[in-house]
Amino acid sequence: MQNKKPFSLVSDSPQMTRRLGAAVAEALAVGDLIGLEGDLGAGKTVFTQGIAEGIGSNEPATSPSFVLIHIYTGRITLAHIDLYRLSSIQAEELGLDDYLTDAAGVVEWVERLSGLEPDLWIKFSFLSSEPERRRLEFSSLSERGETLLAAVARTVSND
Ligand SMILES: Nc1ncnc2c1ncn2[C@@H]1O[C@H](COP(=O)(O)OP(=O)(O)O)[C@@H](O)[C@H]1O
Ligand SMILES: [Mg+2]
Repeated sequence: MQNKKPFSLVSDSPQMTRRLGAAVAEALAVGDLIGLEGDLGAGKTVFTQGIAEGIGSNEPATSPSFVLIHIYTGRITLAHIDLYRLSSIQAEELGLDDYLTDAAGVVEWVERLSGLEPDLWIKFSFLSSEPERRRLEFSSLSERGETLLAAVARTVSND
């Protein structure tokens, strides 16, 4: 499916980025895959913390630096995958399909993943440290992606 309307916004704090993650979490369902692209320090893990909080996981999301996959349990299960240490990997090698049969997935460094397209792709860019600004560009790649994106758009318009 074509990305109908790429949606770009500026987050002006880690708290706002976390809140955007929580907004996605509200609409998140088993089988959904969210891909996060962006340099180190751009905010991918902060956003993932917001998703984990949003599903009601009481474990704080940290970068799973030594494990590839970290599981959070709340309203639904979330599989958090960080590909930082890999240059490329096939979804099949990760067993990603199996995870997605009973969990939602979020993948940091998603541009290194091949073989499976995320529903929602979010590109993070560093803007400034004072103030703490990051650009988030959302592209939905499926109907599910549209639903997740709508949840973000609602949160932003309610601010
Ligand atoms: N608007 C913002 N959104 C997210 N993080 C921000 C923002 N402004 C500053 N930061 C800081 O940038 C860092 C982002 O780290 P992290 O989420 O681990 O990055 P990544 O996972 O993309 O490497 C954190 O230290 C966070 O406090
Ligand atoms: Mg990270």
